[in-house]
Amino acid sequence: MESAISCQNLTKTFGDHTVLKNLSIEIPKGKITTILGYSGAGKSTLMKHFLGLQKPTKGKLFVLDKNVSTLSDDELRNFRKQFGMLFQYAALFDSLTTFQNIAFPLTEFTKMNQAEIEQRVNDLMKSVGLQEQSLHRLPSELSGGMRKRVGLARALALEPDILLYDEPTTGLDPITTKMVNDLIITTGRTENTKDLTSVIISHDIQATLKISDYIAFLEKGEIIEFSPTKEFKKTTHPTIRMFLDLTTH
Ligand SMILES: Nc1ncnc2c1ncn2[C@@H]1O[C@H](COP(=O)(O)OP(=O)(O)OP(=O)(O)O)[C@@H](O)[C@H]1O
Ligand SMILES: [Mg+2]
Repeated sequence: MESAISCQNLTKTFGDHTVLKNLSIEIPKGKITTILGYSGAGKSTLMKHFLGLQKPTKGKLFVLDKNVSTLSDDELRNFRKQFGMLFQYAALFDSLTTFQNIAFPLTEFTKMNQAEIEQRVNDLMKSVGLQEQSLHRLPSELSGGMRKRVGLARALALEPDILLYDEPTTGLDPITTKMVNDLIITTGRTENTKDLTSVIISHDIQATLKISDYIAFLEKGEIIEFSPTKEFKKTTHPTIRMFLDLTTH
């Protein structure tokens, strides 16, 4: 299987604290992969490496066949356009309307004219289930679920190859959580996004089991399990068993 992201013996050390330990993982292209782990396991640090925001102390990282540590600042700027990011709490610009938030990457990074931008924002809103009445509202005038939709539309604006979600449902009510999870599935699995690779960081084991094609478990900087969801559920690894049993009862 083709990899979107390939970590090869990745080690990251801050001072004398080793946060990622000789970590290797091949994240498959076009699939939904979730990285699970306790707080402090190194999940966000790993994600920062994917984006080239941090450099490995040792080892190599290839994203879509590019060796990330060798990229110059200019190349990194271009490189990051291949990613869409959906953060916890959506991280919208508070003073910008839905339209302005979604249009932001288009005005910033493309040469599209106003009419083209309007058309693209319209299409993006449709694809994440946002209605026209949200167009001129500020984030504070939208529900949590709507804000997530706006954040996702913005993340999809530049047609990314890889979509990164950092704890997309933390702090949401159960109904909004379900909506966001359904949205992740539709976004990752529709015909026109067949090649889109989704990588999710999560604590939510239930949702993870439902939406992921592959699951990795990160513990103290090491991947202790990485398998298709069906196999992951049957793991006998004691730490993961405990995590699974703790959160599924
Ligand atoms: N820039 C940094 N300098 C020093 N230590 C860091 C730095 N970034 C992360 N760490 C340390 O690395 C460890 C892993 O942090 P990280 O944020 O990757 O964990 P996480 O798995 O994302 O946790 P959470 O689930 O709480 O978000 C922590 O002990 C943290 O203190
Ligand atoms: Mg984190």
